Amino acid sequence: MSGDYSCYVLSHPFPESFVRWYPYTKAEVLGEGSPWLRWLRRVMAGPIPGVNDRMIAARRETAGEWVGVVWVSVSLTCPELAHFGWFLVDESCRGEGVGGRIIDTCLDTLTADGVRMVMLPTQLENQRAIGMYYRRGWQLSITDPRGGVWMVREPAGFYREYFTPHPLRPIHAGPPEPADFVALDYLLSRPAAPIRLLPLGLAGSARFISFTHDWESAEYSVARQGGRPVALALAAPTDEGPWLDVFGLDRRGMAVAMRELLERVPGGHADVAVTDGARRGALEDAGLRLQSVREREIAGAQIGLARYARGASAEE
Ligand SMILES: CC(C)(COP(=O)(O)OP(=O)(O)OC[C@H]1O[C@@H](n2cnc3c(N)ncnc32)[C@H](O)[C@@H]1OP(=O)(O)O)[C@@H](O)C(=O)NCCC(=O)NCCS
Repeated sequence: MSGDYSCYVLSHPFPESFVRWYPYTKAEVLGEGSPWLRWLRRVMAGPIPGVNDRMIAARRETAGEWVGVVWVSVSLTCPELAHFGWFLVDESCRGEGVGGRIIDTCLDTLTADGVRMVMLPTQLENQRAIGMYYRRGWQLSITDPRGGVWMVREPAGFYREYFTPHPLRPIHAGPPEPADFVALDYLLSRPAAPIRLLPLGLAGSARFISFTHDWESAEYSVARQGGRPVALALAAPTDEGPWLDVFGLDRRGMAVAMRELLERVPGGHADVAVTDGARRGALEDAGLRLQSVREREIAGAQIGLARYARGASAEE
């Protein structure tokens, strides 16, 4: 990168010239109907409660113009985790090293702040960006069928350690809060058994974008230990009544989230892979009972599904 460019770490309130330039709040860049537009305008107006977010931005000094940016956010309850998103370098200077310099400044800043895990969403077809991330330590974590991918950068094994609650400390559950979202994205962006059955369009693809997820379309409960989210339960409306599901790495955390949700939601049923012992156990701990077991085709595979609901179990 030539000496004409400098990188800045911008906090709220962002400089006026930067706000005027920022491409992703412009309807002509994202399209007026984009669900992201509202969210990014909120980011710009910030600060967002419970979230420490910054823009790492590059400027061409001779022209006094902003030319590149990435948005990074860290939840105050999970200071080891960061979300990296909306990375862009102006077409006029792509390929000159500006993007690489932004990523390096970003990683230096986050590391100095104690962040150890950084996740980002991108598209499988964006090989240039994926290559840049891969060479800097990110790995692909999960892909959705439409080509969206998540990449994570973290010490080996840290994710499991971080999201598995301490067995002796209390876990509390309640509705989601903005400070949960970075952790929820991280928690759910893994190919762990509990997420295999997510239907697309509900939490299946929308879970990748918890910041803009329509949290009004279903009821949610987040289990937290010491403020850190460890499980998410949801009840989505369907013709058959509320459809229940729960995600997390640990049976107890999932049970706490589901139990709290069931206090607010009447009726409901859950379908779980018969082999998914942790989640079946969590549903039972939360008071649901096995009703039936059947085979279903999901994404081309025959999967045995156990149906749970309130009330007596089928054998009783
Ligand atoms: C991705 C983007 C931000 C990169 O910015 P940039 O300033 O062009 O990046 P740099 O010049 O620092 O580096 C380009 C990287 O791509 C590589 N590269 C260059 N040309 C390439 C090509 N044609 N194909 C694949 N890789 C290429 C370079 O080797 C370099 O990788 P390295 O730093 O690991 O060696 C920029 O291209 C962009 O804004 N693209 C559109 C928006 C976008 O895709 N954003 C990312 C969404 S996740």
